[in-house]
Amino acid sequence: MDRELILAIESSCDETSVAVIENGNQILSNIVASQINSHKRFGGVVPEVASRHHVEQITLCLEDALTEAKVTAKDLSAVAVTYGPGLVGALLIGLSAAKAFAWANNLPLIPVNHMAGHIYAAKLVKPLNFPLMALLVSGGHTELVYMAKDGSYEIIGETRDDAAGEAYDKVGRVLGLSYPSGREIDQLAHLGKDTYHFPRAMLKEDNYDFSFSGLKSAFINLVHNAEQRNEILIKEDLAASFQASVIETLVTKTLRACTEYDVNQLVLAGGVAANQGLREKFSQEIAEYFPELDFVVPPLRLCGDNAAMIGAAAEIEMQQQQFAAMDLNADPSLAFEHI
Ligand code: KG4
Ligand code: ZN
Repeated sequence: MDRELILAIESSCDETSVAVIENGNQILSNIVASQINSHKRFGGVVPEVASRHHVEQITLCLEDALTEAKVTAKDLSAVAVTYGPGLVGALLIGLSAAKAFAWANNLPLIPVNHMAGHIYAAKLVKPLNFPLMALLVSGGHTELVYMAKDGSYEIIGETRDDAAGEAYDKVGRVLGLSYPSGREIDQLAHLGKDTYHFPRAMLKEDNYDFSFSGLKSAFINLVHNAEQRNEILIKEDLAASFQASVIETLVTKTLRACTEYDVNQLVLAGGVAANQGLREKFSQEIAEYFPELDFVVPPLRLCGDNAAMIGAAAEIEMQQQQFAAMDLNADPSLAFEHI
């Protein structure tokens, strides 16, 4: 079989990334330029700052990705690019670069949904086994996606308010941690105990939706009340209690969905999939109660935003000849279908 090489570009939020992927599952290069240090002082991603960084980084990342993969434009089969969801200004930088490169080198352009990319990060670990369920947990999304086959995505449940990562970042701010605080809360949680017993929203409801804003408010109220009374709270226990609530709802509802939909595989994806507590809890529960279920979670470097996952998802579009015309626009609120 001929080598099929896809150049993939990702710029939907605060990482500029370019990768070269061979045959949909081998990473020849995956350059990721993070801008997080520029956004930290604002406590979140500033869209205008993000776009400026992407402009500065995109050409350098593109050159590095080709050099590291030891390929030239002539070797490539297609150019893939994230066209949504994300920040419109940020998306447009990657999109413009992808179009220019594709046009200049006479290559087809493949439009990729960023969330499909997060799921297909799993394919860089092992083959996908359908039907599968994917729990997508990131800074902007928390959704359960059922996939009957390649390229078919149906949302069976999602957050009604905050995304899981957003809740981590908001309570982190109250704890005085720097943005994004998911990783630090995860580390603190491992040093503490679930002593504050926060609510587990929607756990018993007969649907696959989530809600994290009540948990966030309960956390913030507890901290503010303690400050007013000059009471000392234990940071590690606060983190452990918060994390226990998030993990219990995510794991319980996801495994319930896996049973009802009778899937072969569970894919955990998105930035929050880097959470050690979440990975451990899923592994334990699956080993004990669902030994038949194949659990796939990408390595940490493929959980956060990166272009390798975009290249892996693009390979499916390529097989189905789903190419875009040069008037492809960014779609900041691009979403999967709901069941
Ligand atoms: O997928 P991602 O890199 O960007 C988006 O598309 O949103 O996810 C970023 C989110 C942030 O909210 C960050 O706090 C969270 O992932 N995150 C974590 C961990 N590492 C990153 N949340 C919990 N535990 C972690 N270890
Ligand atoms: Zn993402």
